[in-house]
Amino acid sequence: MPAYYVMLGAPGAGKGTQAARLSQRMGLPPVSSGDIFRQNLREKSDLGKIAEGYLSRGELVPDDVTIAMIRERLAQPDCVRGAILDGFPRTPPQAEALDGMLAELGGKVDAVLYIRARPEALAKRLAGRWVCRAQAHIYHEEFRPPKVLGVCDVDGSALYQRDDDRPEAVAHRALIFLESTAPLIAHYRGKGVLVEVDGEKPIAEVTESLMAALPEQA
Ligand code: AP5
Repeated sequence: MPAYYVMLGAPGAGKGTQAARLSQRMGLPPVSSGDIFRQNLREKSDLGKIAEGYLSRGELVPDDVTIAMIRERLAQPDCVRGAILDGFPRTPPQAEALDGMLAELGGKVDAVLYIRARPEALAKRLAGRWVCRAQAHIYHEEFRPPKVLGVCDVDGSALYQRDDDRPEAVAHRALIFLESTAPLIAHYRGKGVLVEVDGEKPIAEVTESLMAALPEQA
């Protein structure tokens, strides 16, 4: 039976960072809705053209577009054993759609990993974040600096700062999280699948907390 994990948390909580680390430990692919949108933006695909304005304003892309995109991604061969979802679902309709698509794939949401962090910690993280152009590896100028300034340790590509990490877009994204995504915390807690960890510890410690909360996968 495939296994599916959902990363939940405010912008900058560390979802992408932890999804990559858990992916290595668990052997499941990370599926990041934000990365797929940004890749489509770069490729100027039809999906990229639809998503562009929403991303730059820090707003959510409409549910129907996002759900169709994730449905297609989860049907790819590398997801046959499951996936670690980063950034999806983000609204109650997306959560409902996810249940339906996972049932079709013979699975379910096995655990929702909620990474908690205070707004003041998040602002500092996003202001200092650098991302690699080639494969979206994530760095921070203070908390996880690359070995060579401006260059990805893993693939050597250039690092850039995301357009939506501007302070005004960050503030808007935080608000959207509270309005649209935070209700999912209670939803998944009620279903008994929520795992909650302190996201303000160092990156490696957060990973260990998550793994400890999922002992059968360690
Ligand atoms: P998305 O890319 O998903 O952005 P987000 O949810 O705002 O999350 P972030 O990627 O900003 O943060 P993160 O939690 O992954 O933190 P990270 O690990 O990078 O979405 C972008 C946009 O796409 C949305 O605004 C929307 O327009 C659209 N979109 C995406 N999904 C959608 C959906 N489902 N529906 C509709 N629209 C959607 O870490 C942040 C920084 O902190 C890094 O520099 C990192 O090195 C550092 N860091 C991480 N952990 C720690 C730690 N423990 N200690 C110190 N530093 C740390």
